[in-house]
Amino acid sequence: MAFDLSKIVRPKIYNLEPYRCARDDFKEGILLDANENAHGPTLRDVGPESQLHRYPDPHQIEFKTRMANLRNAGSIYKDQNIPPLTAENICLGVGSDESIDALIRALCVPGQDKILILTPTYGMYSICADINDVEVVKCPLVVEDNSFQIDTLKVIETLQNDPFIKLVYITSPGNPTGAYIESERLEAVLCNWQNGFVVVDEAYIDFCSKGGSAAPLVNKFPNIAVLQTLSKSFGLAGVRLGVTFTSKPFSRVLNAMKAPYNISGLTSELALKALEPENVAIMQSKVKEIVNERQRVLDALTSLENIEDQQVGGLDANFILVRIKGGDNDLAKKLYYKLATESGVVTRFRGTEYGCAGSLRITIGTPKENDILIREFKKTLSDLTR
Ligand SMILES: Cc1ncc(COP(=O)(O)O)c(C=O)c1O
Repeated sequence: MAFDLSKIVRPKIYNLEPYRCARDDFKEGILLDANENAHGPTLRDVGPESQLHRYPDPHQIEFKTRMANLRNAGSIYKDQNIPPLTAENICLGVGSDESIDALIRALCVPGQDKILILTPTYGMYSICADINDVEVVKCPLVVEDNSFQIDTLKVIETLQNDPFIKLVYITSPGNPTGAYIESERLEAVLCNWQNGFVVVDEAYIDFCSKGGSAAPLVNKFPNIAVLQTLSKSFGLAGVRLGVTFTSKPFSRVLNAMKAPYNISGLTSELALKALEPENVAIMQSKVKEIVNERQRVLDALTSLENIEDQQVGGLDANFILVRIKGGDNDLAKKLYYKLATESGVVTRFRGTEYGCAGSLRITIGTPKENDILIREFKKTLSDLTR
């Protein structure tokens, strides 16, 4: 059956017309159209030249164009003649977290429809589903071989057998697994299921040393959405900017659905700067440094007597997952707690996640922070196992 967007999106949302303001037609002059405060911000040191008393641009075409160009330049699908990404393929959100929620609201009828998540995974998919009264179906990643890849056949079977599932969230690279999901597996799901959207959450994609972003696939498949964020590789978690790439028709729907001024003027100013070529180069060099440090931290921790020397998950994000030998959750929890309270080093205990017994997730910090982590980890583990 051919994919029909009008049958997948909730009807009221599919038919939404975007909010229009007078500023869509007239941008200059004495602006008395939007009930702003013409005196300017009521901050002692900030004047009207800041433009902060004006509503921000609802469309962000320049930022979107730069983002599309960045992902076109790094495309791993160049040999496939897929039309390049443009601003029309993009909708922006207040972090990916807003985009995760927007997709559920666009596609899932509360109390009826479902999403599929592949465990272990990022917690916000379930939280957003709960908030929207949408059921969560779970299909485990392949944990037996520590690969944390998707079980392609099982995922396809689950999707094909439940007509109420409207979304599947695939985290690539995964959190907390750090594993990049192989492109062939992703395309197999896309080719065998058209009753909803495949969402690829690529929050960590810039740290991935193999493969690359699935974003270019949005102009090949009608039912894929790819989420990215400025929170990780760009070091801008504080500005809250998430990017959804998808087909032009679905992007039109998502843009009509969003609050018109969801991206603040301050966010958009910094985001635009982040995509200037010199700043993209800075991002890439920081990523390189984090990737080098990632290996160093991994080597140091997995050489310890009580830590499994086999790597858990992948090495494709800005964190690693390390496991206490035998998956000892009690020891892992004590280690986590002692590190935070006695050494001032805060990691994340992930031992209750599927396939992650005895595991801590550790973000790669600055070289100095990593030195302290390694030293304190060694000392604390040795104290606990003496
Ligand atoms: C897989 C994944 N997706 C999305 C997010 C949220 O990103 P944002 O800061 O853009 O909301 C995170 C944050 O940790 C994440 O791990």
